[in-house]
Amino acid sequence: MTELATEATEDAPLGELTTRTMAMPADTNAAGDIFGGWVVSQMDIAGGICAGQFAQQRVVTVAIDSMTFIRPVKVGDVLCVYTKVTKVGRSSMDVHIEAWALRHRFGYRERVTSAKFVFVAVDDDGHSCEIAEEYRKAFVEGS
Ligand SMILES: CC(C)(COP(=O)(O)OP(=O)(O)OC[C@H]1O[C@@H](n2cnc3c(N)ncnc32)[C@H](O)[C@@H]1OP(=O)(O)O)[C@@H](O)C(=O)NCCC(=O)NCCS
Repeated sequence: MTELATEATEDAPLGELTTRTMAMPADTNAAGDIFGGWVVSQMDIAGGICAGQFAQQRVVTVAIDSMTFIRPVKVGDVLCVYTKVTKVGRSSMDVHIEAWALRHRFGYRERVTSAKFVFVAVDDDGHSCEIAEEYRKAFVEGS
């Protein structure tokens, strides 16, 4: 397996901008902030796009590791999710995922969460399957 560094500075997201979604009142918790589960689901969607594009196959989420909630997300923030494949195995991919909130739609942006998700390429029956050699090789060459 090949592994890439996942450090990011506070003023620069690591990875490629994959999704942008506005946080709406329907997504709030009892305290009026955005529900953490909504943020995780946005990260899962973005990670699935990233891993699926990498493997050019259907993928499923198998694990979420080291999830950190750094700051709350508020209604009206635009949640920007950045993704980067950091490790590739036979069928699995580690994806570093960061969510940044663009405050009040157009204000300053802050990192609000960071996590490592693991996705697995699967066949039509849902069984793990090998990621094509050309994509795995491209990852090593491009790292
Ligand atoms: C993903 C899934 C197909 C893997 O099945 P499995 O029997 O463990 O398959 P394998 O033993 O072939 O493992 C496949 C890969 O997953 C990795 N893996 C399995 N469990 C893991 C875990 N908890 N954390 C990290 N990697 C894991 C293995 O290391 C292996 O990686 P590699 O091929 O790169 O070496 C199966 O666990 C599954 O269907 N899970 C449910 C997925 C899902 O529904 N997700 C949405 C949740 S709502």
